[in-house]
Amino acid sequence: MLRARSLLGALRLCSSVSCPRPRASAKMRVRDALRVQDASGECVTVQGWIRSVRSQKEVLFLHVNDGSSLESLQIVADSGFHSRELVFGSSVQVQGQLVKSQSKRQNVELKAEKIEVIGNCEAKAFPIKYKERHPLEYLRQYPHLRCRTNALASILRVRSEATAAIHSYFKDNGFVHIHTPVLTSNDCEGAGELFQVEPSSKVKVPEENFFDVPAFLTVSGQLHLEVMSGAFTQVFTFGPTFRAENSQSRRHLAEFYMVEAEISFVESLQDLMQVMEELFKVTTEIVLSCCPEDVELCHQFIASGQKWGVDLQTEHEKYLVRHCGNIPVFVINYPSELKPFYMRENEDGPQHTVAAVDLLVPGVGELFGGSLREERYHILEQRLARSGLTKAYQWYLDLRKFGSVPHGGFGMGFERYLQCILGVDNIKDVIPFPRFTHSCLL
Ligand code: 4AD
Ligand code: MG
Repeated sequence: MLRARSLLGALRLCSSVSCPRPRASAKMRVRDALRVQDASGECVTVQGWIRSVRSQKEVLFLHVNDGSSLESLQIVADSGFHSRELVFGSSVQVQGQLVKSQSKRQNVELKAEKIEVIGNCEAKAFPIKYKERHPLEYLRQYPHLRCRTNALASILRVRSEATAAIHSYFKDNGFVHIHTPVLTSNDCEGAGELFQVEPSSKVKVPEENFFDVPAFLTVSGQLHLEVMSGAFTQVFTFGPTFRAENSQSRRHLAEFYMVEAEISFVESLQDLMQVMEELFKVTTEIVLSCCPEDVELCHQFIASGQKWGVDLQTEHEKYLVRHCGNIPVFVINYPSELKPFYMRENEDGPQHTVAAVDLLVPGVGELFGGSLREERYHILEQRLARSGLTKAYQWYLDLRKFGSVPHGGFGMGFERYLQCILGVDNIKDVIPFPRFTHSCLL
């Protein structure tokens, strides 16, 4: 406690020492500049990329965007400022006075006193063209440049807000955030879609293998979360997940983000479904209130008709969702042989189902997958033995020996969530750098 206090004291000291003197022209993000009410000539500096140039006889209009909002800031300058380098895509620093705009299109504009081109943009070679609305498919060829378009910038801002909203939902509801490992020796889902990890050069390690066991990129943090739920009761993780699925579908990636929660003392699927539903609703409400313009842009210009995949499984999901009136649908109690070893067996005799739950949503299909976990030692032992997994999962069985409790959890595909709320047809467009079969650009 004392140490923490003195650390805080030291930090305060640092900040007072390094506090900058008030500058003549304060740097401002475009988003903040646009929000200034009753602008009255504040001296500010804005940095960003030119989105449009309009040169009139006496006046030059620029629109500058720095990624902080969908809307750009209008710069008004004397036509004498015009130069050949002031083109779409160039980066600039503009100093001037923030004033109330004459036009009704915007509240404020920046009356430029100084315009500096930081980096010229070679317009001919630049794959993003002025005033063109490029199809998302075309932009996918340029993962290093597509974030400069309105469409991708809006999607990625929503992604950022949704990430923060998910963390705040769990924090507000008493969940502990766990960093589950990316490298693991288990195959949680047992579906054999693993990427194996080895050092690129075996020379560096004297033994034959770096780890003593085969190691993989994680397909799910669930089993590690189950360990932690045995101490913290409610836990979550939100990180990258990897599946070597040979699929070019519009809803599969080789690297995607999964939100996973695990809750102890849960005895019914109803309780789990309530958390899933609440997480979805609260996150979406926060996103809608934080960036309504970005969501609106997606709905207006990107959202495509509700297409579905072609595989049989997906067609079943589509049928179910349609049948229920095109709304999200929970499907529960799946046949045991379709699901992984950890799911809790229902007491339904010959039907032989497990307490699994999937949430299917229109346009995307499966968004959440979850279950109650088999917490009964002997039943789990039998299931593991049947699958030849007893040795590898001894530690998992141990958890059922030392204070086992009924528990359950779920995983939500984060990219599929974004597809669902934004109406984006292809999953490759809601992640900054998509990885999928035959493609690992950059
Ligand atoms: O249904 P899944 O496989 O469930 C699990 O991995 C559980 N261990 C989670 C848990 O209970 N903690 O995956 C969960 C979700 C799916 O419903 C889907 O939304 C998404 O992850 N998902 C994918 N998203 C993009 N690309 C892929 N290849 C995906 N595979 C699954
Ligand atoms: Mg699933």
